[in-house]
Amino acid sequence: MQKLIVNGGKTLRGELSLQGCKNSALPIMAASLLCGEECVLNNCPELTDIYSASRILNGLGSRCRFSDNTAVIDSQNISKTEIPENLMREMRSSIIFMGAILGRTGECTVSIPGGCELGPRPIDMHLAAMKKMGVDIRESYGKIICRVPFGKAHGAKISLPFPSVGATENIILCAVTADGETVINNAAREPEICDLCGFLRACGAEISGDGESRIVIKGQNRLHGCVYAIMPDRIACATYLSMVAATGGEIVLKNVCVAETEPFVSVLEQTGCSIYTYDDRIYLRSGSRLKAVKDRIRTMPHPGFPTDAQAVLMSALVTANGTSVFEENIFDCRYRHTDALVKMGADIQVLGKIAVIKGVPQLHGANVEATDLRGGAAMVSAALSAEGTAEISGISHIDRGYEKIEEAVRHLGGDIRRV
Ligand code: EPZ
Repeated sequence: MQKLIVNGGKTLRGELSLQGCKNSALPIMAASLLCGEECVLNNCPELTDIYSASRILNGLGSRCRFSDNTAVIDSQNISKTEIPENLMREMRSSIIFMGAILGRTGECTVSIPGGCELGPRPIDMHLAAMKKMGVDIRESYGKIICRVPFGKAHGAKISLPFPSVGATENIILCAVTADGETVINNAAREPEICDLCGFLRACGAEISGDGESRIVIKGQNRLHGCVYAIMPDRIACATYLSMVAATGGEIVLKNVCVAETEPFVSVLEQTGCSIYTYDDRIYLRSGSRLKAVKDRIRTMPHPGFPTDAQAVLMSALVTANGTSVFEENIFDCRYRHTDALVKMGADIQVLGKIAVIKGVPQLHGANVEATDLRGGAAMVSAALSAEGTAEISGISHIDRGYEKIEEAVRHLGGDIRRV
């Protein structure tokens, strides 16, 4: 099992080009199944979750290959419609293939997906929406067997009880080649939804309203291939900004989609960091000790503060001057990283969805274990600002979402190595 060894206390400085976005690359890879032609995805991050998606595609009969952050996917010939349980368990996004396989072939067999353990992560909204679009769903010995009686799903009006990102993506994927019009009310508005729709439009789909709560999809007979660039990763952006802020450093982040980072940056600014944006760049300078954030930081669906940035911001606030309060509203169990931060000397009290962080002057390196992707990144960030050496195990979680994290951090002057 690999580990990251971090010798803390170095100020991070420099320029970094941001990786492509995992959470839009994954549904876009699934969407490529709908195209009878080759798709070329540029700026595709090379991550273990992306390789899992590639294994799913190859298992279905597509051909998916990578080189230099470009994925070339040819889904002309699909020979299977079932995703084996071991591949379903590798990540949550395996469920997004359901809508795409159904859209392409009219049938599919999946099972409950895996992914980060953040509390219960049901798929009831996904299944209810598919049923509304005419899909028969039967569960048998852990398998979810889906079939559209006449080979093609039909459009429907679907009102989601919560703006679920994954359910919105699955509905879009099933609807783009369905008969008639589909309307999603209370749709997720995350930028990754817009990226998926941007890709689908480039393949000939008719979709409007993405980025808003009401999305309308007019079903097409078929989609074609395209060349598309995946958007930059706003959560990796939040992560590197938090790390640099925590170490009192300075950074120019390049290849950023600046508008999409606003919900995070507007909170980080309250810590006293100077932050400027221009074109596709963000400049951050953090001088003396950070200030605590006065207002409660409430995670909310986009355009609220992103749940995926909660842990990494916390890693910077544990040494801020004063008390900050988080309220986690998306997942029931997304404070699993706090035990590791406390082991490193942080003062954090968690009660249900609330976490109260009283800033301490200094953290100390310790042996800790990453429990999930963003929590693991928060441990790296805390270790970089701590005095002494930290050993972080469980780093397969981190590798699911950060491309060569140790190289990025070393590039900024951090002392980190993988052993
Ligand atoms: C996506 O997960 C992201 N994953 C998550 O990022 C992110 O935290 C989350 O959206 C929220 O922004 C990917 O895009 C691959 P949801 P998803 O469906 O789609 C409940 C990361 O670190 N719910 O919006 O699974 C659910 O339990 C990952 O990169 C149901 O109850 O999130 C949760 O409480 C972690 N029934 C809430 O909705 C359903 O059928 C939001 O989930 C679906 C969801």
